[in-house]
Amino acid sequence: MTGCSREFVLAIETSCDETAVAICDADGSILVSRVASQIALHAPYGGVVPELASRNHSADLKPLVSATLKEAGLEWGDISIVAATSGPGLASSLLIGDTTAKAVAAALDCPFYSINHMEGHLLSPFIEDGCEIPPHTALIVSGGHTLLIEVHAVGKYTILGSTKDDAAGEAFDKVGKMLELPYPGGPQISRRAERGNPAAFDFPRSMLDSGDDEFSFSGLKTSVRYLIDKQPRPLGDGVLNDICASFQAAVVDVLVGKLRRAARRSGAACVAVSGGVSCNSNLRERCREFAEREGLVLRLATPDYSTDNAAMIAFAAAARRRAGVPRSPLNTDINPNLRLGETG
Ligand code: KG4
Ligand code: ZN
Repeated sequence: MTGCSREFVLAIETSCDETAVAICDADGSILVSRVASQIALHAPYGGVVPELASRNHSADLKPLVSATLKEAGLEWGDISIVAATSGPGLASSLLIGDTTAKAVAAALDCPFYSINHMEGHLLSPFIEDGCEIPPHTALIVSGGHTLLIEVHAVGKYTILGSTKDDAAGEAFDKVGKMLELPYPGGPQISRRAERGNPAAFDFPRSMLDSGDDEFSFSGLKTSVRYLIDKQPRPLGDGVLNDICASFQAAVVDVLVGKLRRAARRSGAACVAVSGGVSCNSNLRERCREFAEREGLVLRLATPDYSTDNAAMIAFAAAARRRAGVPRSPLNTDINPNLRLGETG
């Protein structure tokens, strides 16, 4: 496609354990999104091992970039913007993607955009709609974060609340570990919950009626621990499925209840949910029900764009550029603790 006049964004995401590369055009339309998953590599350890993650990003990134360009039918000269995740995440993982993207931007002499991973998740439900992001109330539920946000426009965000302890995905993964399910626990619990009874055990809906936008999942996790300790071993499939369904129901009740209240208060016509936990089919179903009941437009990230991916980073860069946000200098550092609203 050399010589064409469209602008293309090449984005790299290596904030945790997925090596991801994507290309979109200036309107945010995704041409290719590839993820080299490291889940199998970390599964024997029950969680992400940072050193293994960065070593594998380093080995996987170059072939992944080449394969992405080839699948898009593009050559290096067709790329006009380069973007990378600069945080939050694991420092040694972030550095691989960030440094590679900056080197590519310098070699191609094109603008570089340093993207906040959480902004990638936040905007991901709108990937199919293009770069015009309407004002909305957003919920991000990932392995590291649970955030309620008022989105005014691209780059203009008010954080309403977050979790005081575990993130929603972290709670899923920790409960999965307690139940000795394969890593990561979220998808395993979700699958088992479909065959279980959500009313079998009465787990707490922590902070559901706290009157603010904060979350807490550690009390729920402890309740599951006590219940498991009281069960005869080994746990049978029936009880395992019931624990999964009851735990999931408690998490989903809190997430949907808090999102509903925040949306009512803001008066926004649209709500959006993103992050790995938004793959959860029960959460998706309950969000659809409440949005329909309240007459709200609902945007959910597609499952491919819910868990970590580079399409959301490419899209965020295109949306920032469209909104007139200046490029990032090449001497910005990565920031493992980057907060939403800050850039690298
Ligand atoms: O957004 P993500 O890929 O990575 C972070 O930025 O953290 O989210 C990963 C999290 C993990 O905790 C995983 O267990 C959870 O998303 N997850 C799910 C489901 N699929 C992934 N949790 C509940 N139900 C699912 N179906
Ligand atoms: Zn993520």
